[in-house]
Amino acid sequence: MRIVILGSGRGSNARAMLEAQRAGRLGRARVVHLFSDRPEAGLLALGAEFGVPAVYLDPAPFKTKLEGEGEARYIAAITACTPDLIVLAGFMRVIKPGFLTAFAGKVINLHPSLLPSFPGLDGIGQAWRRGVKITGCTVHYVTPEVDGGPIIDQAAVRVEPGDTLETLTAKVHAAEHALLPAVIARLSGG
Ligand code: GAR
Repeated sequence: MRIVILGSGRGSNARAMLEAQRAGRLGRARVVHLFSDRPEAGLLALGAEFGVPAVYLDPAPFKTKLEGEGEARYIAAITACTPDLIVLAGFMRVIKPGFLTAFAGKVINLHPSLLPSFPGLDGIGQAWRRGVKITGCTVHYVTPEVDGGPIIDQAAVRVEPGDTLETLTAKVHAAEHALLPAVIARLSGG
């Protein structure tokens, strides 16, 4: 199973996938390419470390969505990777139907809350401010409805007395780092 990862940030979840692969915990899945819409993304440094191509790909002309010329660039570059699965690991852009049609049923996303609660930006902060006692993370198929596609799996995180936004953030991230490679290993049939 050929995996392409898209991310905009530090890439800790891409790292978790690559480390799982290195440790033989990613089933039959293999990460074949990393792409980022931000040239400064930490994710891009993982390429050299793990021997996987990692490139910045211009998402213009839009700021918060992938559509038009940028979408066409992503579709062409990803198609050339012949992916079986495209993993959005902190890719902070709305994905539009053109992309989803090009890769039908192959796009999954990681979100830092128990969807359908707290979709959109800052899922951890939203949950913290609402005062929930259990939050977590979700891996789901991507559909045109933002954070609304079929849920594949979730992991729960309890908000303990004494937690701060910072400690909760660390706990949710740790849950993500376990959940996402496990889901991919399962999807790969390995
Ligand atoms: C993760 O917490 C992921 O759930 C979130 O971005 C972070 C990326 O971290 N994604 C979203 O909020 C998508 N709506 P990383 O770059 O360290 O993997």
